[in-house]
Amino acid sequence: MKKPYFITFEGPEGSGKSTQIKLLKDFFAKAGYNVLTTREPGGTFAGDKIRETLLNKDCGNLEPETELFLMLAQRCEHLRKVIRPALKKGTVVLCDRYFDSSMAYQGFARGLNPSKISEIHHAFLGDFLPDATILLHITPEKGLERAKHNGAKQLDRIESESKEFHNKVFNGYETLAKNDPQRFIELDASGTAQELSDKIICALKKKFTDLP
Ligand code: TYD
Repeated sequence: MKKPYFITFEGPEGSGKSTQIKLLKDFFAKAGYNVLTTREPGGTFAGDKIRETLLNKDCGNLEPETELFLMLAQRCEHLRKVIRPALKKGTVVLCDRYFDSSMAYQGFARGLNPSKISEIHHAFLGDFLPDATILLHITPEKGLERAKHNGAKQLDRIESESKEFHNKVFNGYETLAKNDPQRFIELDASGTAQELSDKIICALKKKFTDLP
């Protein structure tokens, strides 16, 4: 059986993760892998309901802890009912956001202690981290501009946060990547989608030598 990799995509708003996930899915599918693409918050019926609450502007300023526990609740459903079973069956899982989003957004940006978040996460969800995490770098200004032009959709509750908040997310990701260079693959998200996809595939092939 081919090794079923668990690969997550992280980055500020508008970093182009969804396009890159589609392109990477095509790469794995062409190479003969079964591939599942999924996202957080979401990934299950209950997770999507929690997502609606988390992103709904009418919820206003949720307490940081409320936000964290909702993120962890949807992750518990997602990890146990979707991600782990897929990996067990030999399916590659490509996930749009995961644990590092909780660290960057609820930790570095909302001000909850990142070590505590990591502790809670590991205590309840186990020591289970992605095989690789692709971090797409884009400045908060450029990313939010892209997010705004992404269809006709209005900015959601978290996207509508202050510039300062988004700068903290950006810096938080840099710290996370610096602390775990083995897992993170950092790439500049500017340039064309195809150029970026080629860079992602090249980096993954270097990391996982069994990839074609
Ligand atoms: P989404 O529309 O998926 O954003 P994007 O297209 O930029 O990925 O919304 C997900 C939002 O949830 C995004 O603002 C990041 C946030 N988030 C957290 O704050 N913590 C988390 O643990 C996760 C998974 C997401």
